[in-house]
Amino acid sequence: MKPPANMWKAVILIGGPEKGTRFRPLSFDVPKPLFPVAGLPMIQHHIEACSKIDQIKEILLIGFYPKSEEIEKFIQSARKQYNNIIIRYLPEHTALGTAGGLYHYRDQIEAGSPTAFFVFNADVCCNLALKDIVEFHQETCADGAITIVTTEAPHQESMSYGCVVENAETHEATHYVEKPETFVSSLINCGVYVFKPEVLNHLGNIFRKHQNERFIDMYDEDAAAEKISLEKEILVPYVSSGKMFVYKTTKPWSQIKSAASAIFANKLYLSNYHKTNSHRLARNAPNAGPLISGDVFIHETATVHSSAVLGPNVTIGEDVKIGPGVRVCNSIILPGAVIENHSCVLNAIIGWQSYVGEWSRVEGTAHQPNPNAPYAKMISGALFDDEGKLIPSITVLGRKVTVAPEIVVRNSIVLPNKNILKSSKNQIIL
Ligand code: GTP
Repeated sequence: MKPPANMWKAVILIGGPEKGTRFRPLSFDVPKPLFPVAGLPMIQHHIEACSKIDQIKEILLIGFYPKSEEIEKFIQSARKQYNNIIIRYLPEHTALGTAGGLYHYRDQIEAGSPTAFFVFNADVCCNLALKDIVEFHQETCADGAITIVTTEAPHQESMSYGCVVENAETHEATHYVEKPETFVSSLINCGVYVFKPEVLNHLGNIFRKHQNERFIDMYDEDAAAEKISLEKEILVPYVSSGKMFVYKTTKPWSQIKSAASAIFANKLYLSNYHKTNSHRLARNAPNAGPLISGDVFIHETATVHSSAVLGPNVTIGEDVKIGPGVRVCNSIILPGAVIENHSCVLNAIIGWQSYVGEWSRVEGTAHQPNPNAPYAKMISGALFDDEGKLIPSITVLGRKVTVAPEIVVRNSIVLPNKNILKSSKNQIIL
């Protein structure tokens, strides 16, 4: 059969178990890319966005998680929901870096002769206009040139990201530095790109160069020929040869590195549902509770008492039980958790099958996005300040934590399976 003209693919880089350390303890229990944000696994938001673009026919998830029941289950369910698109997981035998997997699976990417392919970092939260990016790429990027999606960040914060300088008239990138030590540009890399299959030839050259260098240092694991950095070994040389173009988004964007940034992403994706999936947002029923204030997602299997008050920015997961008089705000309640009568959960993530006893309070400090950030709204992933003190942040209860009745847990991180019998503040409970 003739392949469709102008067929595109998408690759999502999902990393592996050693990644996502700032997401602990939540990443102990689920591969970070499957952590639910606004009721959907993090990467399902990318899959859903791709499924709406006519040209995209296949999505390849590349990562070094061992094939697991969880990943298989996710793929099966995503295939059913987005049946217009092929979805596959391609596992790396070890961490191959951000571009090593693209080279390793080059045959899979090139199969069917796609015109171009998106590459997404799994852990970015955005509501990008993919259709506009497709058009930008088609109009601007000739001869194998690539597109990088960028956003404006405040000067100080920009240095934690890849920084891009562009020619504002032609949109050609003139300089790229990954996490520079001094200010380079307020335009930062959003972790979303469009490549043409020609990039795979370039990766072949890098691979052979690494192979030659490996003879020099064959005991250095980091020098493995297949380990390739997308940022250093694709973006930098493409800029030098004038083959990278800059698409600037003005939509909200954030990375999902820490638990606090998941709360922020939850808010962003919930507010996005107004435009894309309003049926996912809970509504107030006339003369019947619970009271819904702002954007709230409630899984159909959850039980919420009619006198509870939920929202704004709340996700209630599968089989959760919320008792009478409970108040939940700016929080994610993960599947199987129970929040007993008259308890209060604010700025927190409550782990799978955790239990909050009655009249208790689980509370964190909301992170305010930098008001000076023009477009990107960033949430720092740092747990400690420069003096090693815990920065007040959201409260996280790991899996199967029990909080006794009438207890206050504030700005704390609680590891799985703990019984909290006395109140705590600014602590990591190991
Ligand atoms: P950090 O600040 O150190 O987290 O760096 P970063 O934000 O630039 O992220 P990083 O470069 O580590 O990862 C970018 C994306 O690539 C994330 O979605 C990761 O899960 C993914 N990633 C990182 N390393 C690998 C790898 O070896 N293989 C694959 N397939 N994906 C990876």
